[in-house]
Amino acid sequence: MSAIFETQAVSFSYPGTQTKALNELNIAIPEGKKTAICGHNGSGKSTLFLHTIGIHEPASGQVLWKNTPLKYERKALKQLRQDIGLVFQDPEQQLILNTPYEDVTYGLRNAGLPEPEIKHRAEAILSTMRIEHLAHTPIHHLSLGQKKRVALAGVLVLEPKLLLLDEPTAYLDRISEQQLIEELDRIHHRGITLVMATHDMNLAYAWADWVLVLDRGQCVMAGTPSDIFSQTDTIQSLGLDKPMLLDLWESLPEANREGVSAPRNVADFKSHLLKSFS
Ligand SMILES: Nc1ncnc2c1ncn2[C@@H]1O[C@H](COP(=O)(O)OP(=O)(O)O)[C@@H](O)[C@H]1O
Ligand SMILES: [Mg+2]
Repeated sequence: MSAIFETQAVSFSYPGTQTKALNELNIAIPEGKKTAICGHNGSGKSTLFLHTIGIHEPASGQVLWKNTPLKYERKALKQLRQDIGLVFQDPEQQLILNTPYEDVTYGLRNAGLPEPEIKHRAEAILSTMRIEHLAHTPIHHLSLGQKKRVALAGVLVLEPKLLLLDEPTAYLDRISEQQLIEELDRIHHRGITLVMATHDMNLAYAWADWVLVLDRGQCVMAGTPSDIFSQTDTIQSLGLDKPMLLDLWESLPEANREGVSAPRNVADFKSHLLKSFS
């Protein structure tokens, strides 16, 4: 498994604080996969994300993009931020312009693209994200779910190779969450490596190919969702919930049969149940 992004012994403290937000953190993001970064509040997920695009610079250790340590100078960071797209948890932090159209075209203009290309790409992404009808609506008139779509569109329009989403489903209703996950699957099929920070263990279990668990600024677990979440005691001691589907599954006699892998979504779970009752 090759890593597209890595941190090696990265430590970082916020100014004026004693605790290390990241404490010799080692992680590797597998290229082409969907990785979930889990951990309770304050474990360092957002701080890690702010290191990926060089908003924060480690006090010690190094951050590598495609095996090359980041350079913290303007030109290199500008290029890096086209390769790596970061969607903040709070869209208010990301959306600084007046309308979705202005927001989505801003990054393209910054990248120096010609005007017809800018228009074409902006319209295409607004339509993909199903917000073309809102293109010229003032951002402060949009719902939170709509703002999240605009923030995602503004990042996707730059066609990043790695997309990081910080708690993308926080405060979304079920339908908006479902739509977002479907959208992420389409993005993933286009070959983009995805990383999501989340404290929704049900989502991490169902969605991810690979899971990293952070605790106090360190990576304490890394593995497949089944590997990670079957370690009930460790998961609970880290203040995380066991995914409900896995918990139910492990209570069935089925779960102990060799060669039967735990279902990761409701449809698979149902088909196992139907088989065993028929
Ligand atoms: N702007 C900040 N100033 C000072 N401390 C911060 C700031 N942001 C985060 N921290 C601290 O850094 C640690 C990691 O926080 P964070 O990366 O936000 O965790 P998570 O995203 O996993 O909830 C916590 O102890 C938190 O209190
Ligand atoms: Mg956070």
